[in-house]
Amino acid sequence: MVRQFIVGGNWKMNGSRGTVSTLVKGLNEASLDKNVEVVVAPPALYINSVVETLKVGQVAGQNIYSESKGAFTGEISAEMLKDVGAQWVLLGHSERRHVFGEDSKSIAKKVKHALNTGLKVMYCVGETLDEREANQTTAVVFEQLQAVADVIQDWSQVVIAYEPVWAIGTGKVATPEQAQEVHHAIRQWLADKVNAQTAEATRIMYGGSVNAGNCKEIGKKADVDGFLVGGASLKPEFIDIINAQL
Ligand code: G3P
Repeated sequence: MVRQFIVGGNWKMNGSRGTVSTLVKGLNEASLDKNVEVVVAPPALYINSVVETLKVGQVAGQNIYSESKGAFTGEISAEMLKDVGAQWVLLGHSERRHVFGEDSKSIAKKVKHALNTGLKVMYCVGETLDEREANQTTAVVFEQLQAVADVIQDWSQVVIAYEPVWAIGTGKVATPEQAQEVHHAIRQWLADKVNAQTAEATRIMYGGSVNAGNCKEIGKKADVDGFLVGGASLKPEFIDIINAQL
């Protein structure tokens, strides 16, 4: 099965109206690989303007709360993302887990709610350096996946993003072999715990210090179906990453 390559740009808590406009202009004016699906995740305050101005790709939120509406001060809902034209949401990002203390069970509840609301989900998983050095990488990743498998059956609107925490924002990118090893383990887990069709169809993105210099080699790996890019998505090199398969 051919899985369409997907490149996401997670802008995190960065930007202003001016820089957002510049990023959108750069993407709109670029010649992009038409075979690559592009998704950008602006800070929530800028989603509406990006939806209205971006001519290439789709827009994601960076988080949601797991309820539709109500007394949840400071939160945004899946319905609100849909209302302003976002089609995706990132969930389970390591910063949500390790900075804001979200656990897999609460994240899985968000995944289920997002899917039920009609959003597509980029579900982030990954281990810390301590967990890797303790040979717990797959145990950690499988626990994060199982929490979602406990609450959903249909993975067709889910893309998994493997983001080793030790590679995020550090410049210490996983080697192509390290990425492929975990991506393959994730695909095998999907085959064992969900079903063969889901395993074959589900796209698995790599994230963690991806840049224009390292993306080609990682992107060649059989079970790497895309990239979730942080810092480099705020730079013109994001276009080179999208076009790396050309
Ligand atoms: O979600 C993508 C992000 O966590 C990766 O960040 O800056 O290492 O590309 P960065």
